Amino acid sequence: MIQFYSTTAEQTQTFARQMGQQITTGMTIALKGDLGTGKTTFVQGLAKGLGIPESYYITSPTFTIINEYNTANLTLCHLDLYRLGSTEELDYIGFEDLLDSRHVIVVEWPGLLEADHFSFDLEIRFTLNEQFHRHLELCPSNETAFNLLNRLPGCRD
Ligand SMILES: Nc1ncnc2c1ncn2[C@@H]1O[C@H](COP(=O)(O)OP(=O)(O)OP(=O)(O)O)[C@@H](O)[C@H]1O
Ligand SMILES: [Mg+2]
Repeated sequence: MIQFYSTTAEQTQTFARQMGQQITTGMTIALKGDLGTGKTTFVQGLAKGLGIPESYYITSPTFTIINEYNTANLTLCHLDLYRLGSTEELDYIGFEDLLDSRHVIVVEWPGLLEADHFSFDLEIRFTLNEQFHRHLELCPSNETAFNLLNRLPGCRD
């Protein structure tokens, strides 16, 4: 597990951008944390790092459930399951078909998938401290995710 402290939205985005720059294959990332802790802010930085043009402004897919953005080699799938009633709705999206080496799947409010025993490659937990700074805990569940974290600059155990 590695940790990152962020005092501004820009710091969260820079950290996420650095992660995006290191992602070279499809993977699944769960973003967990209360409302307003910076999950969508993180995805905005990640998108930049993946090379998604700045003109694609990343907004929360709270109502659309999923937003997709293409790069030359990868597709970022940004999901927000906050309003999802059941995982059956994910069948309509074709969630299972997205799980391949091309799709970087980032899920805010992943609880329903976890309840369905879906296992993410990487889980990131966002919390606020007393000063409203963000604390990110990054927990890899396999070697791909572990190696990704090891390539990030300035991280500590
Ligand atoms: N250190 C920080 N990291 C990230 N965001 C920050 C930070 N400090 C302040 N903010 C602000 O907090 C807000 C975070 O909103 P964001 O939409 O990213 O949260 P969220 O976790 O996606 O919430 P939701 O669960 O509603 O989707 C933004 O307005 C952002 O500018
Ligand atoms: Mg959000």
